[in-house]
Amino acid sequence: MLLPPARLDPLARARRVTVLTGAGVSAESGVPTFRDAQTGLWANFRPEELATPRAFRHNPRLVWDWYAWRRDLVARVEPNPAHRALAELETIIPEFTLVTQNVDGLHQRAGSRNVIELHGNISRTKCFDEDRVVTSWKETGEIPPRCPHCGGLLRPDVVWFEESLPEPALSQAFERSTHCDVFLSVGTSTVVQPAAALPFMALEHGAIVVEINPDATPLTSRATHVLPGPAAEVLPELVRQWRAEAP
Ligand code: OAD
Repeated sequence: MLLPPARLDPLARARRVTVLTGAGVSAESGVPTFRDAQTGLWANFRPEELATPRAFRHNPRLVWDWYAWRRDLVARVEPNPAHRALAELETIIPEFTLVTQNVDGLHQRAGSRNVIELHGNISRTKCFDEDRVVTSWKETGEIPPRCPHCGGLLRPDVVWFEESLPEPALSQAFERSTHCDVFLSVGTSTVVQPAAALPFMALEHGAIVVEINPDATPLTSRATHVLPGPAAEVLPELVRQWRAEAP
């Protein structure tokens, strides 16, 4: 029993649920988190050295290749029970919003529909100069490829360090975090702003905040409930109990 009935009841009766996920929710699909050491070929690089406009300007091919490696990795993995549990939860909650910091698209592949991607999506490509999504381009063998509209270099449509988050995604995430009955914070170290502010905003607006993470974070001491453990184990059990208690 993750939560005793008296504590589960307010969750089971919630009409508005907002969820924030981080890299930890994809960990059990085999996608390394940011705080995990970079593996293999990329062991000598830190994300902060590759995921920045400056790094791209300095060595566009290296940055493009790193994202190509991550895109290939994500294409080869599957959503895990944590992703599927959130997709199931969405079907029983009248107003459900999933805000993710992840760029792997695994929530959508698991069946989640109302997904706000705060940091973009690695499978989308955009022009570095025009900042607009490009869906097709001529393969000339040049890496990175070039924008068919302006000839500028193409880049992944993800948020890099020192870049601002996409609108209206950020405004929607703020609105859903300050207008919810229950807020789940799953698999995030809760250190990178502005996403890290969302659970605290929910708390300040009277929501029940539940943290799911095997490790402590800056949210742990403030959360209403802390469910320590891997998301792929905790979430399916929580959703099972949630459904059983739902009126
Ligand atoms: P992190 O790598 O910072 O944190 C991953 C969190 O997941 C940690 O708190 C782990 O304890 C936890 N975790 C690990 N395995 C887990 C599991 N099986 N189940 C649940 N939790 C688990 O990743 P994020 O918090 O997502 O930003 O990082 C936030 C942002 O920092 C990323 O979106 C990225 C990075 O800079 C951008 O790319 C803009």
